[in-house]
Amino acid sequence: MQNPIIVALDVQSAESALALAKQLAPVVGAFKIGSELFTSAGPDIVKAIRATGASVFLDLKFHDIPNTVAKAVAAATRLDVQMITIHTSGGAAMMRAAEESAKKTAKEIGLKTPLILGVTVLTSMDSNELSEIGVAPNVGHQVERLAELAVQAGLRGLVCSPLEIADLREIIPAQMQLVTPGIRTGNEKADDQKRTLTPAEAMKAGANWLVIGRPIYAAKDPRQAAESILASISPPK
Ligand code: C5P
Repeated sequence: MQNPIIVALDVQSAESALALAKQLAPVVGAFKIGSELFTSAGPDIVKAIRATGASVFLDLKFHDIPNTVAKAVAAATRLDVQMITIHTSGGAAMMRAAEESAKKTAKEIGLKTPLILGVTVLTSMDSNELSEIGVAPNVGHQVERLAELAVQAGLRGLVCSPLEIADLREIIPAQMQLVTPGIRTGNEKADDQKRTLTPAEAMKAGANWLVIGRPIYAAKDPRQAAESILASISPPK
């Protein structure tokens, strides 16, 4: 089994991110660098984390005209990241441009093609907000519609809420990778994540990767927290 734990490095400084990455690299599958850390620490933090040998998920959720997204994906691919997010609501041409750019750039420099992950409806949005932006007010339908478009456009993975996994698995090809945040073990303090599953429940529902932030980095002993999550999803020996 690949190690499915992706730790969200939602910390402010490059120093804290790197310290966490060094401590956790042996027991997790990858690290997620989001807009805050990337905007403050830049490509250097990606290179520093890659230098520890760990895989990197660059979560910048690109959404722009196809040409611009293709160039941003090429730049991310040259940083040797393993996963990149784009918004599926950018449309099929944008998604295809991202996927083609990742393949072409990786081939040119002799690296493995990063997995381009489509984000469907942000989990912070409800039906009222969809209606406000002119989209039919049904979150589930919109998620399915965008997921189907992503499949047609050739994407190989999606980010989804843990509660969407089961429904999505019924309509997408089996090889499609599903990456899910909103994971809670039940041991941590209550926070802003409301609709959550445990790591084992999410894996059972069909997730390939679990994005986990606070339950690991805010734990008293992050390494021990990661080890116990890994044990909870590992097949019995
Ligand atoms: O700390 P926590 O485990 O809630 O971190 C989850 C990570 O996944 C954060 O980086 C958050 O921004 C991200 N995320 C999320 N829900 C989404 C998409 C991304 O929690 N729908």
